[in-house]
Amino acid sequence: MESRAAVVLAAGKGTRMKSGVIKVLHAAAGLPMIAWPVAAAREAGADPIVLVIGHQANAVQGVFRGAGDIRCAMQEEQLGTGHAVACALDALAGFRGTVLILCGDTPLLRPETLTDLLKFHGDHSAAVTVLTAVMDDPYGYGRVVRDENGRVTRIVEQKDADPEEQDIREINSGIYCMESAFLFDNIRSVGNDNAQQEYYLTDLVALAVGKELVCLAMSTADADEIMGVNDRAQLADAARVLRRRINREHMLSGVTMIDPEQTYIDHGVTIGSDTVIHPNCHIGGGTVIGSGCEIEQGVSISDCRIGDGCHIKAGSVLEGSQLHQDVAVGPMAHLRPGTELQSHVKIGNFVETKKVLMGEGSKASHLTYLGDAEIGRDVNIGCGTITCNYDGVRKHRTVIGDGVFIGSDVQLVAPVTVGRNSLVAAGTTVTADVPPDSLAIARVPQVNKAGWRLRNK
Ligand code: UD1
Ligand code: MG
Repeated sequence: MESRAAVVLAAGKGTRMKSGVIKVLHAAAGLPMIAWPVAAAREAGADPIVLVIGHQANAVQGVFRGAGDIRCAMQEEQLGTGHAVACALDALAGFRGTVLILCGDTPLLRPETLTDLLKFHGDHSAAVTVLTAVMDDPYGYGRVVRDENGRVTRIVEQKDADPEEQDIREINSGIYCMESAFLFDNIRSVGNDNAQQEYYLTDLVALAVGKELVCLAMSTADADEIMGVNDRAQLADAARVLRRRINREHMLSGVTMIDPEQTYIDHGVTIGSDTVIHPNCHIGGGTVIGSGCEIEQGVSISDCRIGDGCHIKAGSVLEGSQLHQDVAVGPMAHLRPGTELQSHVKIGNFVETKKVLMGEGSKASHLTYLGDAEIGRDVNIGCGTITCNYDGVRKHRTVIGDGVFIGSDVQLVAPVTVGRNSLVAAGTTVTADVPPDSLAIARVPQVNKAGWRLRNK
């Protein structure tokens, strides 16, 4: 394959977002907006990918930390798209081939479209190819001006266009292929004599035409795809389109969604076939879900690994947890990071877990807090059990052996160990280790005072 690089423009602030966070860092379907065009460029074979950054540069760099194909170029002052691309040249020094130029605020751009654009550009030996779209309402975009033979002659910005040019419905998407030699030789000749006194990248089109180089426009059928996000309403629209794409892929690979329009699955989630997802679930953070699972309504799952045949009941929140096979959780349970539930574990309603390992077949069916605990297999945790793991300064561990039965309303004051096969009686506060095969009971003896109520009324 010929060499391909990409430049992604992301130095602007995005004033219309009305945000303390720059536009390209706002998330759509689980990724910062800029990660979408970067991923598309990468899939289309671009390497290196140069990000032109300015505002909140450190935060943008942070998104791509560790990515070997990403280089960053600073644009201290935002003097226009042409100036932005000029700032990327040093980072492209020595590169020879085709440069894709993209904007950081077009999350809907698909890699297939870039591949088509690159092919069209290469097939025609063009110096410049612009991706365009025909829009019913082209207001605000640069317009593609063609001569009587239909050849592209230049791009004119909204603010510089005369009334006749404003009637043109073919718009510039802001996505281009340019030959590196042409780009390097000409980008610094672009001036700023225009309505906005900005250096317009789009002026390279007229420059190429003037030099009788091949300059083409490829029109995309799907104008949605090149939609630039400028405000939060457009961000919501874009996120909806991304979710539809994500959900469709899951459904085509065998996942049932009761209502895909109300199913919120982020980028990077894996779901096995015959898993059923009910409405209003949010799944993200690279979660992996096995096959044959049922995820009931209103469940939120992030950073989890869930085995086959699990049943997550309504209203549960699962974070950073691992579930083996055939585990049941909820309704309204909260699994916090560090929870590992082995096969056939059952966690019932209003149970909270954190840094807990629960062995095969163990159950905590109701109203319980389990934190910093190691629980064996076939253990029954009674209703209202609390591991008292925190003394106000440090966290302490609770260890419960295989086959233990913890009665209802038990407090386990950690650090404490309950030996295998023991029984802790209901209402007990366990403050000392319990040996295996024992009964632990710690209750104040009950006193019944006959007739007391009658005397006190
Ligand atoms: C640009 C195009 C216009 C096209 C439209 C498509 C120019 C002159 N105009 O207009 O023809 O129809 O995109 O959406 O190119 N940026 C920088 N540094 C700068 C200026 C911009 O990094 O100095 C970045 C922005 O962060 C943004 C992108 O470049 O990601 C586009 O800039 P923007 O100001 O939105 O250009 P438009 O006016 O929309
Ligand atoms: Mg724009």
